[in-house]
Amino acid sequence: MVDFKAIRDEFPILDQEIHGHPLVYLDSAATSQKPNAVIDAEANFYRTINAGVHRGAHELAARSTVAFEEARAKVAKLVGANAAEGEEEIVVTGGATAGLNLLATAFGNASLGRGGEAAKRFALKPGDEIVVSRAEHHSVLLPFQELAYRTGAKFKWIDLTEDGRVRTDNLDEVITERTKVVAVTHVGNTTGAITNVGPIIKRAHEVGAVFILDACQSVPHLKVDFHALDVDFAAWSAHKMYGPTGVGFLYGKRELLEALPPANFGGSMVELAYMDHEAQYMAPPARFEAGTQPVAQVVAAGVAAEWMMNIGMENIEAHEKTLSAELLKLGDIDGIRILGPRENVNRIGTVAFDVKGVHPHDVGQFIDAQGIAIRVGHHCAQPVHRHFGLYASNRASSGVYNSVADAHALVEAAKGIRPFFGAE
Ligand SMILES: Cc1ncc(COP(=O)(O)O)c(C=O)c1O
Repeated sequence: MVDFKAIRDEFPILDQEIHGHPLVYLDSAATSQKPNAVIDAEANFYRTINAGVHRGAHELAARSTVAFEEARAKVAKLVGANAAEGEEEIVVTGGATAGLNLLATAFGNASLGRGGEAAKRFALKPGDEIVVSRAEHHSVLLPFQELAYRTGAKFKWIDLTEDGRVRTDNLDEVITERTKVVAVTHVGNTTGAITNVGPIIKRAHEVGAVFILDACQSVPHLKVDFHALDVDFAAWSAHKMYGPTGVGFLYGKRELLEALPPANFGGSMVELAYMDHEAQYMAPPARFEAGTQPVAQVVAAGVAAEWMMNIGMENIEAHEKTLSAELLKLGDIDGIRILGPRENVNRIGTVAFDVKGVHPHDVGQFIDAQGIAIRVGHHCAQPVHRHFGLYASNRASSGVYNSVADAHALVEAAKGIRPFFGAE
């Protein structure tokens, strides 16, 4: 039995008052708070072994390299990926956005003929198709839309059901023999809906397309296994999984990483560089990790991964299910509409809602005045909001440190919004 009250006590930031009320943090979909173990890991790295990795013959460099690679292995274990030397499937990035842009840029480079014969599987030309879903965060939508503009490929999308789930009933129409890339979110950052990715991945592979998963909102909340899912690539951020900001990870099947041309160029990714002919790039993951790495952050992200595994992803999932059950009661309040599935099935504790007649910023301020932090705006997902006939909403999102009492506090506070603003 996991003691979630004791887990909450590991987060120093939560032990404070905001506007005279105990802080209730319900904005974990934007960024999660950090446990002492993660904060200490980053500070201790600087106190004891700070040095660049994979370079330098001195002992500190050797120790920091070991810590960096051990962190990669912990992160790999969290998502069911390989980390053995020469078989690494985890690339360090600056975050999910950086990882997704890395892929779109690398595919663009392959489309220009870079990467030789092996990279042709990623090349796009006019007439080819790129498919996303309407549930995407802008960090999937925009890099792949730009890739379509650059290559002349057609940009298409899978639409949503009325309650905001990615449809799977018309996949044969949307994903065709011309589709080369399919990029879909694992969990909607607005709707909280878990995408039924199985049929989408199957269809993508049936037509020979590469499947990319945006795992930003799944890795922190669900047990994920990229091998079992058979995804080709997946990107996510450490800061949403109790790790530091400024770092993220890109998973790629080893054979695909080996075939993919680089997207960023510079130090630490090149075997041989010349003035008068082409460079010879390193094998993955180094090929995709140009420049000095965020070593302290990666080490701390590894600790975050280990910390989550110690609690148990099944336990985290079950705990957060009790939170989503409470948050969904928002939909029972007169004039409040939930943007996403109402039932507590195949969804996480991210619950966006619209308050009839009250602007989201007013809602946010009213809720904040009671010490409760939620997100307002379009959550970098404008097409999702258009699907619901809105341009912005309010979003509560849970983390492992929340209690049912936190969710209940929001529901109780929300009951006062429309009366306070005199909404019709
Ligand atoms: C589903 C989803 N994808 C991508 C991102 C982008 O993550 P980051 O801003 O950490 O790069 C986010 C973060 O808001 C997200 O929720």
